[in-house]
Amino acid sequence: MENNTLNIEIQEKPAYSYPIIIGEEIDFFEYIKEFTKAKKILIVTNKTIFSLYENRIKSDNAYYVILEDGEEYKNIDTFKKIIDSAIENRFERRDCFAAFGGGVIGDVTGFAAASYLRGIDFIQIPTTLLAQVDSSVGGKVAINHEKGKNLIGAFYQPKAVLSDTNLLKTLDKRQLKTGLAEVLKYAFIEKSCCAELNYRFYDFLDAYSEKILKLDSVILKKLISICCTLKASVVEKDETEKGMRAVLNFGHTFAHAIENLTGYTKYTHGEAVAAGMIMAAKLALKLEMIERSYFVKINELINKYELLPDDLPDFNKDEFIEAMHLDKKADADKIRFILPDSEFSVKMVTDIDETLIKECIEI
Ligand SMILES: NC(=O)c1ccc[n+]([C@@H]2O[C@H](COP(=O)([O-])OP(=O)(O)OC[C@H]3O[C@@H](n4cnc5c(N)ncnc54)[C@H](O)[C@@H]3O)[C@@H](O)[C@H]2O)c1
Ligand SMILES: [Zn+2]
Repeated sequence: MENNTLNIEIQEKPAYSYPIIIGEEIDFFEYIKEFTKAKKILIVTNKTIFSLYENRIKSDNAYYVILEDGEEYKNIDTFKKIIDSAIENRFERRDCFAAFGGGVIGDVTGFAAASYLRGIDFIQIPTTLLAQVDSSVGGKVAINHEKGKNLIGAFYQPKAVLSDTNLLKTLDKRQLKTGLAEVLKYAFIEKSCCAELNYRFYDFLDAYSEKILKLDSVILKKLISICCTLKASVVEKDETEKGMRAVLNFGHTFAHAIENLTGYTKYTHGEAVAAGMIMAAKLALKLEMIERSYFVKINELINKYELLPDDLPDFNKDEFIEAMHLDKKADADKIRFILPDSEFSVKMVTDIDETLIKECIEI
């Protein structure tokens, strides 16, 4: 089966450009050999993924760090475990670390790779849809601190991203849908990403919803490659998040408040983002930034994929606003919103009347 290759070019640093390979049954070690000079590979994964795919990551020159499963392990202890293993096994600068897992594994392994010997080659092998369309692209790596998520991190680009759609077959439905929320987000921000697609991503998602939900591999490869193209077109121009990258946060200001007020465990990130996108669209409608027909279109696609939680609590509106202020992307006093301003386009808006915001905290 033919693999697709997409090249990510970082404008600020051409030497850090890298390929994303999208395919089925990818021979990971073949590509690692092609893209690094590593004699040894430190593969970081978790127990769940290792038990499913041990046979896919076996190699004579591989060493393994197998973590417990969960966001709570994206921490400094895990970081140390990875570094300890590299030191113990005498990893040198020309060797490499490979993250085999979802966003949790990708983020902590990437941060360890950025730090070990001031930077060792890093390969991303994302195993969740969210990681294949979002977290593995863009070079943000991080661990959590007990005071907040992703407080310790770096911008560190991988040598290559190897996305195998067959790995998605073992994901549970909820995990698949959390990735799909980010996928739909790309449709709503498409025009603000400055990428040239030959057709509207919205129409693609609308037309192929059944095939996508059934994990049709041809359609999935196309979908992943569109999402990576869109995300890359943004991060290529703004590697270190000075401005333009903010469009990727459509729905996220509301989503972060939902996650914060429900303890980060009740809803998946994607469920919160789906609800957040509806709230942001409502706000844009109230501000007369979009027509009602486009507001309906946004709702229709999100509902078609059944991404919304059906038990969102009746939030205390003052607490909700307070939680939005806590979001690390909020400037000192102003809450920044990324809102739709026309079909498939978004822009940043600040200084919105709080009463208006409060009217949008429902789906
Ligand atoms: N760096 C970035 O730009 C960026 C962007 C978005 C999110 N993130 C981070 O990503 C993390 C969330 O990532 P996620 O949603 O992938 O979660 P995750 O890594 O926790 O994976 C979700 C669950 O799926 C399981 N799993 C993974 N692959 C599987 C497979 N192929 N089959 C069966 N089960 C599998 C995992 O064991 C886990 O239980 C968060 O920590 C978030 O902060 C980072
Ligand atoms: Zn997100």
